[in-house]
Amino acid sequence: MSTSIRPRKRENHEFIPSDYFRRLEKKEIFENEAPLEVDLGCGEGTFLLDMAEKFPERNFIGVERLLGRVRKVSRRAELRGLTNVKVLRLDSKYVAEWLLPLSSISRVHLLCPDPWPKEKHHRHRLFRPSFLNSLESILEPGGEFLFKTDHDEYYEWSLEQANQYKGSLIQAEWPEDAFFYPKTDFQRQWEAEGKSLDSIRMIKPANL
Ligand SMILES: C[S@@+](CC[C@H](N)C(=O)[O-])C[C@H]1O[C@@H](n2cnc3c(N)ncnc32)[C@H](O)[C@@H]1O
Repeated sequence: MSTSIRPRKRENHEFIPSDYFRRLEKKEIFENEAPLEVDLGCGEGTFLLDMAEKFPERNFIGVERLLGRVRKVSRRAELRGLTNVKVLRLDSKYVAEWLLPLSSISRVHLLCPDPWPKEKHHRHRLFRPSFLNSLESILEPGGEFLFKTDHDEYYEWSLEQANQYKGSLIQAEWPEDAFFYPKTDFQRQWEAEGKSLDSIRMIKPANL
């Protein structure tokens, strides 16, 4: 009698919505009710995967528009045996504005996004009042938006956008050691070049 070793089924960590034209329910992304964090523009996913490994009791979804990076994140999640992380290939703005469930995200991370330095390209920048309105809608009460950039002008511009925004998210201090927060791939690269990062933290009041 021959014994065959059945290969372990590879888990695909890519999340493909059943419908792109309606808001998701939280349980469509992960079946359990664990807190859900979103990493917009997750790149190759080092931050996302480090977070997922550190917090197995939370769920994480990365959003990335480049297919090669999405596949890489999925492969890396499989290699690390993570069951609480998925990655979605879509535009971050669309996901925040139209797809994610309302009042249900515990933290949104936007780390080292493309700064679009030319003025004629500023319209591509994500950080603007309409984006903050979208975040306000999807964050749960007490939820947080965490932003980091190495680009001084984009940072100043983002502060102005935050000041122009009239919604309920409140800017908060973010001391270096406030909580576990792993470095992203771009952050490591830029810090190795001697650059430093600025950050913005905004919180949705717990009573909303
Ligand atoms: C500069 S990289 C930063 C990646 C990662 N957050 C890091 O810090 O290592 C920006 C990433 O965001 C992705 N990206 C840019 N605009 C996007 C958008 N509108 N929707 C989804 N992903 C986007 C890019 O493909 C790229 O992987």
